[in-house]
Amino acid sequence: MTTAIVLVDPTSPDPEALSRAAKLLRTGRLVAFPTETVYGLGANALDPQAVQGIFWAKGRPASNPLIVHVADATPPGNVAADWPEAARRLAARFWPGPLTLVLPKNPAVPDEVTAGGPTVAVRCPDHPVAQALIRAAGVPLAAPSANRSTQLSPTRAEHVLKGLGGRIDLILDAGPCPGGIESTVVDVTADPVRVLRPGPITVPMLEAVVGPVQEASQSSDAASGVARSPGQMAKHYSPRAEVVLVAGSSPAMDDTVWLALLAGQKVGTLEFGEPVRPSRNEPSGRLVCIWMPTNPRAYAARLYDALHSLDEQGVDRIVVELPPDTPDWAAVQDRLRRAAASG
Ligand code: TXA
Ligand code: MG
Repeated sequence: MTTAIVLVDPTSPDPEALSRAAKLLRTGRLVAFPTETVYGLGANALDPQAVQGIFWAKGRPASNPLIVHVADATPPGNVAADWPEAARRLAARFWPGPLTLVLPKNPAVPDEVTAGGPTVAVRCPDHPVAQALIRAAGVPLAAPSANRSTQLSPTRAEHVLKGLGGRIDLILDAGPCPGGIESTVVDVTADPVRVLRPGPITVPMLEAVVGPVQEASQSSDAASGVARSPGQMAKHYSPRAEVVLVAGSSPAMDDTVWLALLAGQKVGTLEFGEPVRPSRNEPSGRLVCIWMPTNPRAYAARLYDALHSLDEQGVDRIVVELPPDTPDWAAVQDRLRRAAASG
C-alpha cells in the first residue's frame, strides 16, 4: 500500500483534500489527521471492519479500546447511551478540547471500538482540520494516536509516516500539533469521576467544574487486578533509546550523563537551566543536549518531538531532568515515567 501525504492549511483546510480523506473514511479506509494534542489514526467508528484495520496497522492489542471523535460539543446521540450530569458540565466547559469522557456505550458502537466493554470513550477535538474532517466524513471517527503500539505518539506528519508508512492510505499534514500530549481521560460513570489518564486538562481544572475527583493510581489498579483503562500499561509512549529520569539538580544530571558517556554510549538529554555548561564540552559528538521550556504547556508541546529527534540521531540513552511534582506537570511526569518504564 502506498501512503499519500496531503498538505493542508491548519486553520482553513482545502475542501478537496478533506473530501478525498472523507471518501476514504466512508469506504472503510484509514486516514491519519492532526488534532490539538497529537496526530490520530482515524476510521469510521461505526464500521467494525474499518476499526479492525486500526488494530492491524498499529499492532495494537484488541483489548485496548479506542476513543471516538465527534464534531459537536453536545451529547453524541449515536455514540453514548447516557450522558451523566458530570459529563454535561465537563463537556460544556472543556469541549471542543483535550478531554476524553468515558460514557455508557450506545449499542450502535461496535464491540471492536470498546474492546467488548460497556463504556465508550468520546472526545470532541479542538483542531480545525479534525473538526472539518469529521463533518466531511459524516460519521464519528475512532482514532487512537497514529503510532505503532507502545511507541511514541506523533506530533508531526513525519512521525506518522515513520511508524505507519505503507500501512495506511493517507496522512493529512497540517504541521506540528499545538498541544503535543494526549488528552486527559476521565471516567464519568464513576462517582466521583475518575481520571484514567492525566493530560492537558489538569485535576484542579476538573475539580473547579465537578468538585473532588479520583486520581488514577497504577498501584491500586494493579492491586485490584482490574485494568480500568487498558492503555495505562506501564510500558507506553516509549522512544527506542533507554530513558533515565533524574530528580533534582544539575550535578546529578552531570554525573548520570558522564557515566553513560564513559560507558561508550551516545547520550541525549532533556533538561532545564543554563544552556551553556562548560563541563559538558564533550569532544566526540556523543552528547546531544536539548534545553526544555520551564512552562509545562510549552514543555508538553515539545516533548515527543524532542524524543523523536533524539531517536533519529541514534542516541543510546536519554537522560531526563524530572520537572517539579505539581498538578501542572502531572501529565508530563506521567509520560516521562512511562517512557522510562522497562517492563
Ligand atoms: O489526545 C488523544 O486522546 C489522542 C488523539 C488522537 O485524540 N488519542 C489517543 O488515543 O491518545 P489512544 O488510543 O492512544 O489512547 C486512548 C486511551 C487509552 O489509554 C485507552 O485505554 C483509553 O483511552 N480508553 C479508550 N476507551 C476507553 C474506555 N471505554 N474505558 C477506559 N479507557 C478507555
Ligand atoms: Mg496512544
